[in-house]
Amino acid sequence: MATTFLTTVQGQHQTLNNDGYDVIQGLTKKPKNLPPKYFYDHKGSQLFEQICELPEYYPTRTEASILRGCSDEIAQITGACELIELGSGSSTKTRLLLNAYQSRNSSCKYVPIDVSESILKESTLQLKEEYPDLQIKALVGTYEQALNQLKPTSLPARMIFFLGSSIGNFTPEEYDVFLNQITDVLAPGDYFLLGIDLQKPIEILEAAYNDSQGVTAAFNLNMLEHLNWRYKGNFDTSLFRHQAIYNQRENQIEMYLHCQKSHVVNLKSLDFKVTWEKGESILTEISRKFDLETVQKELDSKGLKTLKVFTDPQKWFGLILCQAAK
Ligand code: AVJ
Repeated sequence: MATTFLTTVQGQHQTLNNDGYDVIQGLTKKPKNLPPKYFYDHKGSQLFEQICELPEYYPTRTEASILRGCSDEIAQITGACELIELGSGSSTKTRLLLNAYQSRNSSCKYVPIDVSESILKESTLQLKEEYPDLQIKALVGTYEQALNQLKPTSLPARMIFFLGSSIGNFTPEEYDVFLNQITDVLAPGDYFLLGIDLQKPIEILEAAYNDSQGVTAAFNLNMLEHLNWRYKGNFDTSLFRHQAIYNQRENQIEMYLHCQKSHVVNLKSLDFKVTWEKGESILTEISRKFDLETVQKELDSKGLKTLKVFTDPQKWFGLILCQAAK
């Protein structure tokens, strides 16, 4: 890696790591599933950026509007601080926070973390131009890999932030493990800023994941193209169809790819063949929808005390700023 600001965690070619073991494991299960991190190759990250602009996809613009209103207050509460972003992508919403720190003259350092190296490189270069004085240290890798790699900071505090409700991708068990990792990394008095998508009428939720332009469908199908590239596979995306439904019992959107025809797929570099039946489906993502009070209680039980909750007038999205117990 020639660039000094971009560090690939644990080897350049296995950024997603565990050698595809998670793919084999997911495709061997009944019903089949795949980890959502495989959405985000270069194309997938671009498609996600497009999703964020869709009229039906309310989370991004709602969260941005909340951030526009509360970034100054957050910067004021934390003071000078190392800003660590999980799943930074294009860092579009982050600029609202960066501007707030800049205009208060609070020194900060930005540590964006993402699994897509190309998107991270692109956005870091762009940020360097826009914020010439900002120290940036980008980390390529999964959240877990990157959190384990964080170096001690010379700044008085740290704020880890996880926007966009990406935490909704975790099952309750993974969510619990993740929060433990966060509290392990935070020192007493450090901050955690969490964006969560809130429960709302099913029509609004399902429309957000079944957009009329078919961008979400392309995003979902692209996961198979990513596997083709990464593991020398021969998925034919025309044999699969996108579906997103809201599971009201679990309070989560579930995204599936439905197989239209019996066939076999070979993932050469994993030395793994997988048989598909017509009508079989694969779960590619859950996107949980939360209740603000419940999440606050869960954070509190991990020693993350809520300082402030920010939401929009419709209460469609929430931002919780919390602090690790002192
Ligand atoms: C990035 C996980 C927050 O769950 O809404 C958007 C991903 N999937 N449309 C979400 C996604 C389909 C998104 N997160």
